[in-house]
Amino acid sequence: MDKAKRNHPYACCRALFLGFLVVCLSYWSVKADDLAGVDLSKGASFIFGDSLVDAGNNNYLPTLSRANIRPNGIDFKASGGNPTGRYTNGRTIGDIVGEMLGQPNFAAPFLASNTTGKAILYGVNYASGGGGILNGTGRIFVNRLSMDIQVDYFNITRKQIDKLLGSSRAKEYLGKTSIFSITIGANDFLNNYMLPVLSIGARITETPEAFINDMISHLRNQLTRLYQLDARKFVVANVGPIGCIPYQKTINQLNQDECVELPNKMAKQYNIQLKGLLTELTQNLPGSTYVYANVYDLVMELITNYDKYGFTTASQACCGNGGQSAGIIPCGPTSSMCDDRSSHVFWDPYHPSEAANLLLAKQLLDGPTKYISPMNLRQLRDL
Ligand SMILES: *[C@@H]1O[C@H](CO)[C@@H](O)[C@H](O)[C@H]1NC(C)=O
Ligand SMILES: *[C@@H]1O[C@H](CO)[C@@H](O)[C@H](O)[C@H]1NC(C)=O
Ligand SMILES: *[C@@H]1O[C@H](CO)[C@@H](O)[C@H](O)[C@H]1NC(C)=O
Repeated sequence: MDKAKRNHPYACCRALFLGFLVVCLSYWSVKADDLAGVDLSKGASFIFGDSLVDAGNNNYLPTLSRANIRPNGIDFKASGGNPTGRYTNGRTIGDIVGEMLGQPNFAAPFLASNTTGKAILYGVNYASGGGGILNGTGRIFVNRLSMDIQVDYFNITRKQIDKLLGSSRAKEYLGKTSIFSITIGANDFLNNYMLPVLSIGARITETPEAFINDMISHLRNQLTRLYQLDARKFVVANVGPIGCIPYQKTINQLNQDECVELPNKMAKQYNIQLKGLLTELTQNLPGSTYVYANVYDLVMELITNYDKYGFTTASQACCGNGGQSAGIIPCGPTSSMCDDRSSHVFWDPYHPSEAANLLLAKQLLDGPTKYISPMNLRQLRDL
């Protein structure tokens, strides 16, 4: 009797405790079910940029810039060789880097309707063919996502990740495990500043220096906004040797080993300032690391010493038509296509082949500081 009385309150406590535990466990298992099969440990890529890394966003836009037509994607295994919207024959640099970092899925295009729910935890791709740092860039294509809009879209994803993971885990996931890559700027030159007077490049009145300053100040704002949304590990690509692409060689009727000077000169001017901007941001924004990817020198090395890397040409587009470098008509169903796609540095008049992308991605991942600084992407991931 006495004993039972003494036990009673304790038994009651225990029952309450067990009940609480059951409630907790079932709540926890619902949460765990939501994220079942999602491996967060390998991190994710959030990819911003232009057609060099677009994984299909332009498929969903009414635009003149699109790549979801054959034979684009012919070597993309995940789609069985069907076009996906990637502007190359296989994987983009963004795809390959994610794969090499051990990420289980390619970052999915933001505009695809099934890029929702836990799929976004594997990373999201906001890149858009024709897009630039400046809003007016790429207007010639009617539609494209410029960098301001890409950051707006990440702001939407950011809130969804909070819902999926809870705010503190979301912050940690984005800040520690995720890598933010930005590959943009070439269109600001090719499809804005350097468009002939007849087209909409009203900036013909601006000096190259003023135009580049404008690009840098917009990019500073865009990269800072990503930081405000808890991005911490960045890699920003500089602008490649856009005077050496088959398109330029063709319209300027250059010899195989010649490049157009002005676009390369502007790219180099911009690149110097970009490098300074990334150092400045790393210093000013606590906990941030902005890595500079020297795509210009990397691509130049491939173009100059193409035979050393197993290519037979760095001037001819594999897929395209027109002129001596097949560089006028974009790649499409009626284009001619080379026999050996891995022997060409360029897939089409503008974009590297998958074979070139593989070499570039390897250097970004494990290469020396002359190509990726102050650290390579493997070191950035392991920070
Ligand atoms: C979304 O749909 C595409 C096309 O059907 C498919 O290839 C892709 O794997 C899907 N993505 C996800 C995250 O389910
Ligand atoms: C560019 O467009 C975005 C989205 O429409 C807008 O928020 C931003 O203010 C614009 N930037 C400039 C400099 O006009
Ligand atoms: C993100 O969106 C919210 C509104 O939902 C806005 O208040 C905030 O300024 C945005 N952040 C950035 C960095 O654009």
